[in-house]
Amino acid sequence: MHQKTVQTKKYISNKRLRQERKALFKGSWIFAGLSSQLPRGSVLPISHIQGSVLLTRDMQGRPHAFVNSCLHRATRLVRGGHCSRISNQEEKRRTGVWDHLRSRVSSLTPGSWKGTRVEKIGCPYHGWLYDHEGRLVHVPKKEGMDSAWREGTSSDSSADNQNAKTLKRLSVEEREGMLWINTSEKPEDIEDHLGPLNGHFLPYKFEEFEPIEASDYEFPANWKIVLENALDYYHVPTAHKRTVNAHVEVHPTYEELSLHNLQTIHIAPYGWRGWLDRHCSRGGPYAPEQLESLHKYYIFPNLILNVLPYHLTIMQVFPISPHSCVMRYRFCKRRGAGAIEKSRAYVTWLASRLILYEDVILYRSIHEGMVQNSMEEQPLHIEEQSIAHVHHGHQERIDAVLGSENSNRPESNEEKSALTHEAQPKLWRVQ
Ligand code: FES
Ligand SMILES: [Fe+2]
Repeated sequence: MHQKTVQTKKYISNKRLRQERKALFKGSWIFAGLSSQLPRGSVLPISHIQGSVLLTRDMQGRPHAFVNSCLHRATRLVRGGHCSRISNQEEKRRTGVWDHLRSRVSSLTPGSWKGTRVEKIGCPYHGWLYDHEGRLVHVPKKEGMDSAWREGTSSDSSADNQNAKTLKRLSVEEREGMLWINTSEKPEDIEDHLGPLNGHFLPYKFEEFEPIEASDYEFPANWKIVLENALDYYHVPTAHKRTVNAHVEVHPTYEELSLHNLQTIHIAPYGWRGWLDRHCSRGGPYAPEQLESLHKYYIFPNLILNVLPYHLTIMQVFPISPHSCVMRYRFCKRRGAGAIEKSRAYVTWLASRLILYEDVILYRSIHEGMVQNSMEEQPLHIEEQSIAHVHHGHQERIDAVLGSENSNRPESNEEKSALTHEAQPKLWRVQ
């Protein structure tokens, strides 16, 4: 087991957040969505910690990623990137489970989950057009622009134009039904990043999944509190005593997979479960434990996947400031589900809403406690070992990218005084 304590300052410090942005998000492969979100010929804007990213898929089926900004006057080419969002204020107005559920049921439409099919990507300001490979293909009244721009416009996008102007390209990879982006100039190989996870998701055929709910939630808590809560098994008998506790066995198995980890949670073997599983488990072939257990994957640095053959939960957390974050929440069922499989997915989704609500009301309490409490270190239980591993992986990466001396330098007074307000730019609010 890794260090059995976590430092409180890592949750409330501006300096720590700057390190995390730089070392954990900027140069890492970040999950960008499922392959099913990006049909051929479509565009999909998504929010990344570095800003807005435009995902496209050309007619040959290849995915591309660009900075979502026009080459003329930098205007956002496609707006969006959020699904139905809940702001702090709205969250406060909701007083109970029923209010919360009702609001979710009324926004079942999966928002901007799926890319929009377009012939060309048109800038809404002056009408420059780009193809799916990011090439500038049309400039209205072209003769009014300098020659570099006139020659850089490829009216026939299949022609080989050496001077072609292209949107700023980002690295994108597609593996086992998932899209990944990396904003680094020289990204590491995606296979190296995924390491032992390569091949884990093949039987599930993630490309067949679509959302029942796709929401982005903003929470008044440090991003790691939200991430860790979803990995923490120790809180289940207390915080979820009325819901999930009776349906799982006591100890999950825990496995470290390089930077990532996996908790396998055996679900109580009710007699009817076998019957249901036979009717619902398409995809495969599955190992028996893939049918009988919930596989909870933590994927460095900010993604959690709850995986079963018949539904998939995606939770991805991004920091806004030391004191607030956004969780991208997706609950998905497999496309083409029959009545039994579909009913099971919807019932489980409703149950998962209740369970999530029990966690949501804790986030603020945990964060406020950490801001107020002067304890330097928090002790961890054995059933919180996934959290210890997350911290170990984050710290190792921060030390590797920024140098251990820099990352351990004590915080200056100026940095400390910034603790009480949100000094970071609120990227998520301006897009
Ligand atoms: S800013 Fe995009 S066409 Fe002018
Ligand atoms: Fe929980």
